[in-house]
Amino acid sequence: MTMSSKIEKTSGTPEHIAIIMDGNGRWASRRGNPRVFGHNAGMKALKEIVKACPDLGVGFLTVYAFSTENWKRPQDEVQGIFRLMVKYIESELAELHKNNVKVGVIGDWSAIPAEAGVKLQDALKTTKDNTGLVFTIALNYGGRRELTEAFRKLAAERLADGVTPEALESIDEEAVSAYLNTAGLPDPDLIIRTGGEQRLSNFLLWQCAYSEFIFTDVLWPDFGREELENCIEEFRRRHRRYGGL
Ligand code: IPE
Ligand code: IPE
Ligand code: MG
Repeated sequence: MTMSSKIEKTSGTPEHIAIIMDGNGRWASRRGNPRVFGHNAGMKALKEIVKACPDLGVGFLTVYAFSTENWKRPQDEVQGIFRLMVKYIESELAELHKNNVKVGVIGDWSAIPAEAGVKLQDALKTTKDNTGLVFTIALNYGGRRELTEAFRKLAAERLADGVTPEALESIDEEAVSAYLNTAGLPDPDLIIRTGGEQRLSNFLLWQCAYSEFIFTDVLWPDFGREELENCIEEFRRRHRRYGGL
């Protein structure tokens, strides 16, 4: 963790913001456009938020881009989303790199279309030594699957070591965290969901234990720097007690 992020934390800025970027489809429908228009507008909103985070002292940004459940959507929408992702990385990678952003991915992205996978790989490789904003994209991500896989890996290791009481005791909260896709990232201080729904939809189930939540009716394509600043203001007014007094 950098020195500056520690200073920012004491001044009440969320160190890690996670966003459920919802409402693209409705944004497009309201304009009489196909849903993929909304996803395109959503990519533009994302560009602005990634730029704003470092200015506002946010060190980690994690965005929910595609859930394990989103495969249920019509194939052309799913393909459209990944095609836009390719376009986004093509147009943004140089700028992200210039801005010292370190790109990461969580979720089983081995299952995403090959071209998108190649672009992402490129983004990870290009930005791997950057020291600025840690920008993580949740892609084919599901909290339950992440936890299930963590338990499976933990069990396999403990079985290999022999199921002794010590081995079982070593499965503590830290061990579980270390086996999640988010290993190495701090838990999100603030989770924002746009688009009016008030649910997690399988996002960061373990990591959100003490996150603050903000649900806004603003549809994701309309969410910009000003809305983000308002959310941070609202976060600063919250009193986090973690079970204490
Ligand atoms: C969020 O917007 C983006 C993804 C889930 C990929 P939606 O596509 O869910 O938009 P709405 O909720 O239908 O408006
Ligand atoms: C959550 O949005 C997933 C993402 C934003 C990627 P959904 O639109 O898929 O969630 P539900 O279906 O309304 O719960
Ligand atoms: Mg939705």
